[in-house]
Amino acid sequence: MTSPDRLAELLADFELASSQSGIGRISAGKPLLLALTHLRNNAPDDAEIALNSVDSQMPAAGLALQAVITGERGATDQSKDYFLRAVEAEYPEFDILCLTGDLARHFGFLEIAVRAFDRAIEIAPHASHALLRRGQTFSEAGDVSAAIDDLLRATLLQPNLCAAHVALGDEYRSANMTDAAFRCYHTALDLDPDNTAARSGLDHTLALVLPQWHSAMLNDTNRNDAFEEAIKAVVTEDSSVLDIGTGTGLLAMMASRAGAAEVTGCETVGVLAETATEIVNQNGFEDRISIIHKRSQDLNPAEDMEQLADVLIAEIVDTGLLGENIIAATSDARRRLCKADVKIIPGGAAVYAVPIESEEIARERCVDTANGFDISLFNSLRPNMYLQTDLSKYPWRMLCNPTRIFEFDFTQNIPETAEESFLLTPHSDGIAHGIAFWFDLQLSPEVVLSTSPGAPPTHWRQAVYTLPEPLNIKQNEPIRLFASHDQKKITLKLGS
Ligand SMILES: C[S@@+](CC[C@H](N)C(=O)[O-])C[C@H]1O[C@@H](n2cnc3c(N)ncnc32)[C@H](O)[C@@H]1O
Repeated sequence: MTSPDRLAELLADFELASSQSGIGRISAGKPLLLALTHLRNNAPDDAEIALNSVDSQMPAAGLALQAVITGERGATDQSKDYFLRAVEAEYPEFDILCLTGDLARHFGFLEIAVRAFDRAIEIAPHASHALLRRGQTFSEAGDVSAAIDDLLRATLLQPNLCAAHVALGDEYRSANMTDAAFRCYHTALDLDPDNTAARSGLDHTLALVLPQWHSAMLNDTNRNDAFEEAIKAVVTEDSSVLDIGTGTGLLAMMASRAGAAEVTGCETVGVLAETATEIVNQNGFEDRISIIHKRSQDLNPAEDMEQLADVLIAEIVDTGLLGENIIAATSDARRRLCKADVKIIPGGAAVYAVPIESEEIARERCVDTANGFDISLFNSLRPNMYLQTDLSKYPWRMLCNPTRIFEFDFTQNIPETAEESFLLTPHSDGIAHGIAFWFDLQLSPEVVLSTSPGAPPTHWRQAVYTLPEPLNIKQNEPIRLFASHDQKKITLKLGS
């Protein structure tokens, strides 16, 4: 709703509340209602004349209208002053206070609006609409926790107040409490299936928790086939399997199809866990797979699992291998959730890196001038982060042979940090624009799944660090590659 429309709507509500409050019976009532009519007809000067004719003390409603007239003229201080006097008036009426709060909020005077709603809530502590409005005002002021408090109370006091569920969902979403946000939007849509704000909130939350790569990953037949081959090789009919980060339950179903005695899948994203449960049921595995909505680190083996796992599946791998915390999750699971001789899929990974020349990649990721303006300072904001890159889509070449920089064994403890450096000998002259890296996942003794640019393509593609500055490389003049990790991220640099 555009701002003038919103003001018109608030003034209409104001008129209704004023007439219902019996204001016409007091001496100031008639000029006040006349002023309202003028204001609604976009005639603020006439409204002011009408208000000036009030000879007794100006009631709160009149002060609020004067605040609107002065606010519309841009006289901010005067407008604030009228609003404050309206809010602090003696013997306040609940409806007028709420509408004064709405009007103050409309003009951006959020503290005054909160004060108006405070006073309204003092009069009627269980008024869900006042709590809703104060919660929305806190939200606009950026006070998420105060907003959540009020909106939650509004929904508890009036469970069918759809707007409160939507507003609460929005707050939970901005606090990254996505499961709670989903619950709110679903409740709102149950109450009002056509509610566009709830639908849009739901869509935004889905986009937050379901990264775009999810469908590409599920459609990655090279990945799926390699995992299924390894699962078939490792799982026996006695196996108890734990699938960390089960997503849709795909790998859990593979394990069950391979004959596992029982499979538990855990998933940290609530909507995914719910959907996985339905998918598993639809595919007829309801008796053999149980899906738990928990992060693996929060699983309680005594409550959540019939027995410790013989086989641990952990496809929690991103383009840069470690970005989904596979090391922390597998190490915790090995200690608490698995038998001593557990088989892990993947059991390990080797990571390879190589400096590359690719003007195209560098050009895409750096800025210089645009339309004659020097905007190169923007480059200083670039995070030191690899980007997922489909190398097959660019002209590029390696300047040295790829080097194996790390080898991870997920069946053993892995140091919290590690730093390595490698002396590389360029096989030709060139300009290094970036460092590409990829990994080989050891899924079983026989099955290796590689994201190397030379291997069959996967949805992971490759990871590329773009160098802050291109580096001239001379054939046979060694350069140094620095590689480090902190269990969550592999960081690469070139130096001499
Ligand atoms: C890369 S997806 C893989 C999904 C599924 N395993 C598959 O292969 O189709 C990883 C999933 O693991 C979930 N996840 C990541 N770490 C987790 C953890 N420690 N516990 C439970 N779920 C986790 C993410 O929410 C995401 O849905």
